[in-house]
Amino acid sequence: MKFGVVTLFPSMVEEALKHGVVGNGFNAGLLKLTTYNPRDYGEGNHHSVDDKPYGGGAGMVMTVNPLRKAIKVARCEHREARVIYLCPQGEVLNQKLCNEFSSSKELILLAGRYEGIDHRVIELDVDKEISIGDYVLSGGEPAVIVLIDAISRLCSGVLGNPKAIKSDSHSDKLLEGPQFTRPREIDGLSVPEVLLSGDHKAIEKWRRKQALGLTVTRRLDLMQGLELSFDDRELLKQYKREIKS
Ligand code: ADE
Repeated sequence: MKFGVVTLFPSMVEEALKHGVVGNGFNAGLLKLTTYNPRDYGEGNHHSVDDKPYGGGAGMVMTVNPLRKAIKVARCEHREARVIYLCPQGEVLNQKLCNEFSSSKELILLAGRYEGIDHRVIELDVDKEISIGDYVLSGGEPAVIVLIDAISRLCSGVLGNPKAIKSDSHSDKLLEGPQFTRPREIDGLSVPEVLLSGDHKAIEKWRRKQALGLTVTRRLDLMQGLELSFDDRELLKQYKREIKS
């Protein structure tokens, strides 16, 4: 998967993606990142990339020309790519969108700064606007990093154990339940007996119960459209009884 990122802070994005499984994916050549800096196409002695907003108001707006030039170069090297602009006004990112994006061969991601970008860039060059949540960042770069991370781990070969994707929170409209590792006991808290039993069916059932219980308690909204089986409903009843006792 090839990512082209248009950003005024290339090193911020490059550095963040050097770590962990995603970093390994880049090192192994499964993923590729190229950055394009609008400042390289900035205007005047100061290579200016922003200006005051028409109509007045606080802050500055990124100007059309440096952005469009950077996007044009990115397009030359990513001919099949859609251009995604990360901004608070976009569709809120979720696992379904990440799955969809991960089937692309290449994507161009655009990070804004200041009060945003001139709207005509969105009209002329942007295919989709994406927000990573209902809060405002000081720039789109952290959002670009989040999006690349979430997409990259879905790309073939990036995760050591691809089965991990299946049990991820959100992958099946359920949050993933708690995990435990050694030691078996710490400060009076022990690992649930069933996880030590070696009984794979019982473990699977316990995990399903935790996932159902946690999601009902914390994020009922995620379960919209999820058909619960008779067994699921029994597990939920059990979970609620166990919580009470
Ligand atoms: N830029 C600023 N805030 C953002 C957000 N919430 N998501 C994506 N890009 C942003």
